[in-house]
Amino acid sequence: MSSNIGEHGAEFLVVANRLPVDLERAEDGTQRWKHSPGGLVSALEPFLRSHSGAWIGWPGIADAEVEEFEEDGLRLHPVTLSATEVEEYYEGFSNGTLWPLYHDVVAPPAFHRKWWNAYVRVNQRFADATAKVAAHGATVWVQDYQLQLVPAMLREQRPDLRIGFFLHIPFPPVELFMQLPWRTEIIRGLLGADLVGFHRPGGAQNFLWLARRLVGLEPSRGAVGVRTRPGVVQVGDRTVRVGAFPISIDSAGLDAVARKKEVQQRAKQIREDLGNPKKILLGVDRLDYTKGIDVRLNALHELLEDGRVDPDEVVMIQLATPSRERVEHYKQMRGDIEQTVGRINGEFSRVGRPVVHYLHQSVDRQELAAFMSAADVMVVTPVRDGMNLVCKEYVACRYDLGGALVLSEFAGAAAELTSAYLVNPHDLDGVKNALHSALTVDPAEGRRRMRALRRQVLTHDVDRWARSFLEALGTQTSA
Ligand code: ADP
Ligand code: F6P
Repeated sequence: MSSNIGEHGAEFLVVANRLPVDLERAEDGTQRWKHSPGGLVSALEPFLRSHSGAWIGWPGIADAEVEEFEEDGLRLHPVTLSATEVEEYYEGFSNGTLWPLYHDVVAPPAFHRKWWNAYVRVNQRFADATAKVAAHGATVWVQDYQLQLVPAMLREQRPDLRIGFFLHIPFPPVELFMQLPWRTEIIRGLLGADLVGFHRPGGAQNFLWLARRLVGLEPSRGAVGVRTRPGVVQVGDRTVRVGAFPISIDSAGLDAVARKKEVQQRAKQIREDLGNPKKILLGVDRLDYTKGIDVRLNALHELLEDGRVDPDEVVMIQLATPSRERVEHYKQMRGDIEQTVGRINGEFSRVGRPVVHYLHQSVDRQELAAFMSAADVMVVTPVRDGMNLVCKEYVACRYDLGGALVLSEFAGAAAELTSAYLVNPHDLDGVKNALHSALTVDPAEGRRRMRALRRQVLTHDVDRWARSFLEALGTQTSA
């Protein structure tokens, strides 16, 4: 990949809803940049930093007028959103309509024309900003569900560009997608790309079906002769490739962090601070209703009630990054989870020895590696997740072959991490049994499973993911 930012614009650009850093405004008016939340940034940032390029995104707060700036080799181009746009485009259409719709309607999606109009407006702003800074013939990589109209809007202005799109969340079954009043517009938006990527082959198939059904077979909507064959949509004389590219993490980088002496010391310290329990369970998530935090808490609660888990021997830590706090379903879920934590601790804790430690906080990468090194069982139970990087991070941290992973079948990662304890998060007895098995696994069997998991995670890292996508897009990749 030719990645220099020349005087005629950037030759490689990532366009994502968020910049890799988020602006935080304190009450006294002072501002500081901090690391942005979520898997997209965790995955893309290490790749981008080693390839220098430009990143176009929102700085994370409303009405922030920030000039473009350089950060650690990356050129950042902030896109401003007004408070109303944050409400209607980000909290509304992105996270009140698309997020629940694409996650199997685990919460009911809301359809509001006002939200859709804001989504169109903001997508156009991202496309305009990109068109302005991209060099002639540059490669532009558009990310995720917040920006599905950008590929077509960008192509309209800049047909010289090579445009890729990657969806970081599941692409839904066609029956669910068809609920969307603006379904055709979204498919047309995505078809502006040269390559459309999903985590799983099922997502690619659903998209191909919808392209044929919604754009190819509705002449009244101005079809342009769309034809599909496996992995390809022909839009007039343009070929759009469609495929599955399972994302991953900087596995070797995290493995190296976990091996640091100070991280291992911190892991020991964490165990001591918890009162040296026999077993530590760990959950790490954005506080999101798709993540199944309630599932694991309910399973633990019943195991304690059944006497299959001894509260004197087992401690659970749940780290939960604050997320989308003004969206109604998120507010509700936070209340429910905090109530369940309170109930478990009320029934089963002793003074100075809570069973569940719930931290509504983010921790840095080193601290995360220490928690993961300390945990005997990592519990990842989403009811639906595009990939889920947390489970891969846990595996990367366990160079000692210790620990066990309980993983939902409904996370994209389950297709790769088949040596985990795979569970159906809707089957509470199944989750309880898997937790119990993971807590009591024979050490040799535990090592066998972890060895197999590490083989997968260390050989399929984020660099391989990005290269395979960019090569399919026809872009040379070199550091
Ligand atoms: P999503 O993109 O939906 O948030 P992923 O599992 O793919 O889910 O990615 C989440 C990322 O955020 C991971 O890199 C994970 O380590 C990080 N993360 C989640 N919760 C925390 C937390 N409390 N502290 C630090 N990092 C967190
Ligand atoms: O892929 C999941 C995702 O929505 C990313 O697009 C995003 O970076 C991350 O989760 C965090 O969500 P948000 O940007 O809404 O805080």
